[in-house]
Amino acid sequence: MSKPKRVAITGAAGQIGYSILPRIAAGEIFGPDQPVVLQCLEIPPAMNALRGVAMELEDCAFPLLEGIVCSDDPHVAFGDADLVLMVGAKPRGKGMERGDLIRENGPIFVGQGQAIQKSASKDVRVVVVGNPCNTNCLIAMHNAPDVPKDRWTAMTQLDHNRALAQLANRASAATRDVQNAIIWGNHSATQFPEWRHATIGGKKAADVIGDNAWFTDHFIPTVQKRGAAIIEARGQSSAMSAANAAIDHARYLYQGTRAGEWTSMAVCSDGSYEVPEGLIASFAVTCKGDGTWDIVEGLDFDEFGRGKLAITVNELEGERDTVKDLLR
Ligand code: NAD
Ligand code: LMR
Repeated sequence: MSKPKRVAITGAAGQIGYSILPRIAAGEIFGPDQPVVLQCLEIPPAMNALRGVAMELEDCAFPLLEGIVCSDDPHVAFGDADLVLMVGAKPRGKGMERGDLIRENGPIFVGQGQAIQKSASKDVRVVVVGNPCNTNCLIAMHNAPDVPKDRWTAMTQLDHNRALAQLANRASAATRDVQNAIIWGNHSATQFPEWRHATIGGKKAADVIGDNAWFTDHFIPTVQKRGAAIIEARGQSSAMSAANAAIDHARYLYQGTRAGEWTSMAVCSDGSYEVPEGLIASFAVTCKGDGTWDIVEGLDFDEFGRGKLAITVNELEGERDTVKDLLR
């Protein structure tokens, strides 16, 4: 067996933490031959709950789990971490937008970004889940200027999976037969879920479904507002599907996307598709499996899509302005 991968999880005693920890320990990110050490970060009032979660993890007797660290000190939790999953942040409640959390959650990512730079492995990869995840990722990245910008990602995989599921349902297909949806922009209600490049059973989704109004009037708003619909129904924000998406996102980074397929990830823009350089925005990406990603270039846009992309980019620029005091 190789040296264990150290995975830090912030907010590990929360809802998403409870769903994601056993899946990491079972080998779902790095595969069945790679041992892991879980390094859990919480705030002091949640440390007792975290100890309970750690006891349960022990009691699962996962063959790949070589250690569990529980700490309220980010330098301990991020110590030599290969992968940091930044989940710890307040979730929104009914009637709120994710952006309403920005001034409350944003400051968390200042100190934690600095701690990643100081204490994590030099080869660290970071996935930000805590909302508003694009801008929290921007904050953490700015506070860790020595960590290369391509190490920072924020999660739009949940939106991507929601898009696949909506397309599959409408076509009475299985989600495994749906490929290459795209989430553009922000993990918010302005995101642009795009179907024009998606395929179902190898054919263009638009041709299989054959109902353009369904895409504009149902598909887009359903994916955009799915998080709110879950909060309305469950009284709490998504957790199982969020944990599942974070596993998918990290697995793509370490095991790669399939040939001919892409996924959606919010990454630091290099100016592709005229998204201003430096914003953390969601694009279609491919992953080789070595922790790197590449934006899928050369996708064509129609006028409708250009307008949608401009709206979500505009929102990201506004969020960046709202937290400019937290960026260095
Ligand atoms: P939760 O309230 O159940 O858990 C959050 C945990 O974070 C709590 O245990 C809390 O003690 C901890 N925490 C708070 N501040 C912390 C800090 N400074 N350091 C470490 N831990 C801290 O919430 P949840 O349902 O697990 O959701 C967590 C976040 O993920 C929320 O912001 C939510 O909106 C977001 N989320 C994002 C997506 C996405 O698609 N990007 C999906 C679902 C949820
Ligand atoms: C989601 O998309 O389910 C999460 O971001 C939680 C939320 O606030 O919607």
